[in-house]
Amino acid sequence: MCGIVGYTGHRPAGPIILEGLRRLEYRGYDSAGIALFNGPEEFYVAHATGKLDALVQRVEGSLPPAIAGIGHTRWATHGEPSDRNAHPQLDPDGRVAVVHNGIIENYEELRRRYGRGPFRSDTDTEVIAHILAGDLEAGMDLLEAMRHVASEAQGAYSLVAIASDDPGRLVAARVGNAGGIVVGVGEGEHLLASDLNALLPHTRNVTFLEPGEFADVRADTIAYVDIEGHPIAKTVEVLPYDPVAAVKGPYKHFMLKEIFEQPDSALDAIRGRYLTRPARVEFEDLAFLDEALAKSLTRVVLVGMGTSMHAAMVGRFYIERFARIPAEVDNSAEFRYRRPVLDEHTLVVSVTQSGETVDTLAAMDEARRAGCPQITLCNTPGAQTTRVADGTILLRVGPEIAVASTKTMIASMLLLHGLALRLGRLRGTLDPEEEAAQVEAALHLPAAIGEMLKSAPLIEEIASRYASNEDFLYLGRGLGDPIALEGALKMKEVSYIHAEGYAAGEMKHGPIALIDERMPTLAIAPRDEVFDKMRSNIEQVLARHGKVIALVSQGDHSLDDIVEDIITMPEVTPYLEPMVTVVPLQLLSYYIATERGADVDQPRNLAKTVTVE
Ligand code: AGP
Repeated sequence: MCGIVGYTGHRPAGPIILEGLRRLEYRGYDSAGIALFNGPEEFYVAHATGKLDALVQRVEGSLPPAIAGIGHTRWATHGEPSDRNAHPQLDPDGRVAVVHNGIIENYEELRRRYGRGPFRSDTDTEVIAHILAGDLEAGMDLLEAMRHVASEAQGAYSLVAIASDDPGRLVAARVGNAGGIVVGVGEGEHLLASDLNALLPHTRNVTFLEPGEFADVRADTIAYVDIEGHPIAKTVEVLPYDPVAAVKGPYKHFMLKEIFEQPDSALDAIRGRYLTRPARVEFEDLAFLDEALAKSLTRVVLVGMGTSMHAAMVGRFYIERFARIPAEVDNSAEFRYRRPVLDEHTLVVSVTQSGETVDTLAAMDEARRAGCPQITLCNTPGAQTTRVADGTILLRVGPEIAVASTKTMIASMLLLHGLALRLGRLRGTLDPEEEAAQVEAALHLPAAIGEMLKSAPLIEEIASRYASNEDFLYLGRGLGDPIALEGALKMKEVSYIHAEGYAAGEMKHGPIALIDERMPTLAIAPRDEVFDKMRSNIEQVLARHGKVIALVSQGDHSLDDIVEDIITMPEVTPYLEPMVTVVPLQLLSYYIATERGADVDQPRNLAKTVTVE
């Protein structure tokens, strides 16, 4: 959730850290701060409430030419967003500065045991600076002190600390699953960050801290140790990302850029995986999933949160349809607490763009304890889910910066389709003709998404007429059901309009009571085998004076005269419709949000990666 950046090297650290924070601001944006070495035994420290710009303004003209330091963007857990609760947090003597992501569960007890004076903040972080300062005074060095902290502080978190009497040294710790730490390996300089994006302008050579690992970083050296202080050997990985991908370009917002990137995202996701002659799907990192394992599976459980869970709901359909395995979807946060029945014949598939969502990691831990084989669909190379799972399907759509997920959802749904085809082939449940038709259809999908995007001007016009509404209803059936849920989620996230998504058949069991002229309904109504039922649902809304925006198949004019607005989708094979129908819903939310002046890329209260339970 919070963003962490650290730098030590030969260049001025302040601008590098601020730029890194800018690239991480989507993680948390209620306050920010920076601490730099500033001459012997002294820090330069600045904090500011609000977005990063407030910090940039505050430090303008006053940044010292330090060559090392740390910075932070915060997503509040303990203590309101304010200057005094912003990170870095310091001990009372200003000897140690620390930034933190995650939660220290026993911080109150630690405060009683280790407090070295009055606490100035309400955070669970400040006590860490107190403990480190006490340990340094007792003769420990910073790395030893950090290991001591990790043995005392309960919870899942990551920390980076600096000490004023050890200039140029950064010590990082990762404890548990909350939020990773990536080390950027440069020449005569090194960086630390909670997220790859902060490192992209400087290096693509990285290492990832695993839970229970520590990094001791100076300009010329990096040492990795475990909690006992034993050295750990780590291999430097080279990132595939194109740094340009994290730039907004001509678009007003990252969300719009990422929506319009979706034809390319779909192509990037399937390139080299959906193959012809013979038609089949293959994945590069799924060697463990062989015929014997695929045939031994009795069940698939898909887990995820938010948009990723909606993608998983679409995936469930594919797995049952093409691989003929009973499949279910679980909200990751609920999964482990209901003590699910699992065994080695249950394939657990986690869907997560970040690969760091703590609820999903907890669900994967539960599955690991039960001996389930696991696959993760993830957009972040090296993320924690890729380390826990037996196999990874990388989404390969480049960094998604807007907090509201768009292109990663399309890639997740599409690659779950690919996984289902792969499983179907291995299990022998997939008719070769069907396989060929699905592969062929997927190869045409990027063009269909591009066609759908041509409706953007129409959707912008529709949005201008609905922007003052305070409620929205989304209805869908079959594969349209999860898309209705996603449409409602997007609307809530970026425009702050109350929105509900329902399987259309459910409407008459309660939600219909909400319908009146102020409650518009977006109906996903493609010409499929349940179209007539959907039409009846639309009639029921109209009979109660509700306005309807209908998303219909190309050439279908049967609703033209009865609904308020029609959006036509291009022709696409029914199974792949979700990847097309979600696009106008994303655009509608985006345009309504901009019409209302909302902060589209960084909606209030949200964070891109949710690393607290
Ligand atoms: C999507 O727009 C949301 N920001 C949110 O629901 C998100 O999908 C959820 O937090 C899961 O994140 P993940 O894909 O990184 O696991």
